[in-house]
Amino acid sequence: MAHRRPFVAGNWKLNLGPREARALAEALAERLTEERSVDMAVFPVSISVPATVMALAGSGIEVGGQDAYAANQGAFTGAVSAPMFREAGCTRILVGHSERRSVFGDSNAIVRTKLEAALAAGLLPILCIGETLDERDAGRAFSVVTEQLQAGLGGLPADQVAAITLAYEPVWAIGTGRTASPAQAQEMHAAIRAWVAANFPAFVAEDLRIQYGGSVKPDNAAELLSQPDIDGALVGGASLDADSFARIVEAAASVHG
Ligand code: PGA
Repeated sequence: MAHRRPFVAGNWKLNLGPREARALAEALAERLTEERSVDMAVFPVSISVPATVMALAGSGIEVGGQDAYAANQGAFTGAVSAPMFREAGCTRILVGHSERRSVFGDSNAIVRTKLEAALAAGLLPILCIGETLDERDAGRAFSVVTEQLQAGLGGLPADQVAAITLAYEPVWAIGTGRTASPAQAQEMHAAIRAWVAANFPAFVAEDLRIQYGGSVKPDNAAELLSQPDIDGALVGGASLDADSFARIVEAAASVHG
C-alpha cells in the first residue's frame, strides 16, 4: 500500500462561477504550498476552468473537468469535449459520477465511450462507481460495482487502466452526511482491487489508486484513509471550503506519510 501516492480530489459540482472559483483556488494554493506528498486536484464547472487553472498555476494542484462528452466536436449543443478541457489546461476528468448516471442518464455504455474519449485526449480519468441504497439492501452492491467495472474497464489495455483512478462512491453516502464505515469501504475497495487483479496484470492492481467518496469530512478522513485499500478521497461538499479540503489533504499526508 505504501507505494501508492495518496490522491485527494475536490468535486465542486454545480457551484462557484469564475470569480468564486478563482477565490477558492487562490486560498487553496496559499494553504497547501507545503504539501508535496499528496496528489491534489479540483474539478470546477466548465466555465470556471480557465480562472481556476490560472489561479493554481505552479501550485501543484491539478484541475479537471466534471464531465466530457464522448465526441470531440460537432452538433452537440451544450456539450464540452475532452480535447477542449485539455486545451484549457485540465489534466484530469471525472467519468461516470453517480449524478451523471442518475440525473443525466449516463449508462455504463455511455460512461465507457466517455472514458475512451478522455484517454484518447490525454486526460487522466477518475472513473466513479458505486451502488445505491436499494442495491446494497438487496445484497447487490458487489454485483453492481462489478458490472460497472466490467463495462468501464473490461478489455482496455493494461497501461491505460494503470492511468485511471477509481472512485468508489456509495450513492447513499453522497451528500447525505452518512459515510460508509471504514470497514464497509475497505471491504468494497479490496473487492474492487481483487477484480482488477483478476482481469489485468498484477502491477495494475498494485498501482491503481482507489479513492473513497461520500461525505468525506476533515473529521472522518483519517480513519477512512488509513484503510489499506483506500488511497485517497473524492470530496464534494467539504471541498468547497479551503480549510476543510486542506485538512483532508493533510489527513491523507499524515496517514500515508
Ligand atoms: P459529498 O460528494 O462529499 O458531498 O458526499 C462526494 C461526491 O459526489 O463526489
